[in-house]
Amino acid sequence: MLKLEQVSKVYKGGKKAVNSIDLDIAKGEFICFIGPSGCGKTTTMKMINRLIEPSSGKIFIDGENIMEQDPVELRRKIGYVIQQIGLFPHMTIQQNISLVPKLLKWPEEKRKERASELLKLVDMGPEYLDRYPHELSGGQQQRIGVLRALAAEPPLILMDEPFGALDPITRDSLQEEFKKLQRTLNKTIVFVTHDMDEAIKLADRIVILKAGEIVQVGTPDEILRNPANEFVEEFIGKERLIQTRPEIERVEQMMNRMPVTVTADKTLSQAIQLMREKRVDSLLVVDEQNVLKGYVDVEIIDQNRKKASVVGEVYRSDMYTVQKGALLRDTVRKILKQGMKYVPVVDEEHHLAGIVTRASLVDIVYDSIWGEENQLMTI
Ligand SMILES: Nc1ncnc2c1ncn2[C@@H]1O[C@H](COP(=O)(O)OP(=O)(O)OP(=O)(O)O)[C@@H](O)[C@H]1O
Ligand SMILES: [Mg+2]
Repeated sequence: MLKLEQVSKVYKGGKKAVNSIDLDIAKGEFICFIGPSGCGKTTTMKMINRLIEPSSGKIFIDGENIMEQDPVELRRKIGYVIQQIGLFPHMTIQQNISLVPKLLKWPEEKRKERASELLKLVDMGPEYLDRYPHELSGGQQQRIGVLRALAAEPPLILMDEPFGALDPITRDSLQEEFKKLQRTLNKTIVFVTHDMDEAIKLADRIVILKAGEIVQVGTPDEILRNPANEFVEEFIGKERLIQTRPEIERVEQMMNRMPVTVTADKTLSQAIQLMREKRVDSLLVVDEQNVLKGYVDVEIIDQNRKKASVVGEVYRSDMYTVQKGALLRDTVRKILKQGMKYVPVVDEEHHLAGIVTRASLVDIVYDSIWGEENQLMTI
């Protein structure tokens, strides 16, 4: 689908920002570019949609040399999320999202519908449609930047550190949403990141760049197992590479299938009683169909003892979950990074399937290289 042949870029002044890059990207692939600041990631992206012209080499999309296409038309077919968000301040959110659909002359009704549908993807309601960028938080603006790239359903999307400015929780949910989206829509995505965890989680293949050159290309597993050289090793090591027993790959293979649960209609004292019996300090709240709603813990109950009587009034719904089929490796990272004691495991319909606890990870994390700053690691 996308092919780079001996692509180089020399900026004025003679600096070689990109040096003879060869890369073949298949349709539907999710490619992450990763490398230190200044290694040529943005330059490479911008050559793909001709915001920057290569000094030498060729780029093909679906077999066609992009230099032989009209650059404006080319860009309309390629979604692009720039590194600095880049919303137009004088346009509403809807106008910002619908930029390309408008250029493509979609009717107003369809544009609006598409914009609302996209907002929903990132948990933002239609009330944002008529707002202006300055009325949104930085993280929300960044989400709009991502949505804009998706709006006209381009087959190829370039994303330059699209989640960089988001808080970890939002980033995590957007990453997941995005990965799902990519699987269903079968888009080809070239994604730049500084964050190795993000690359490992999202990418089908990772391209590691250094000083304008490709150091290694491979699936996350290939790169984790066989780093090409010290540079790659350091890049991974620095990001706290975690190896788990290879035969345990998926969360469901090791989750505890009997988490302690409570329904919303139980009283706070019943909840406390249950915690005592089961020797746990937190309960997962589920409905009659065993759909996970949230959690309560001792602290929440203690704080609300006088104000509330049943679990339904006090439980928190802001909690991380992982899917049954998720890779254990990702889950381990999540738990360690967030300092969580456990993560509930759910199926596609959000039914509670089990939990993975921090303590249970002791058994599976047998060889890890910890960064100094990782004091979360107390197992
Ligand atoms: N317009 C320009 N003129 C001259 N040099 C440039 C220009 N744009 C980028 N460079 C240089 O080219 C190199 C690659 O820049 P690029 O923006 O592609 O890096 P990057 O990998 O995206 O970095 P970051 O992670 O900081 O975004 C850098 O050394 C940069 O200083
Ligand atoms: Mg950049």
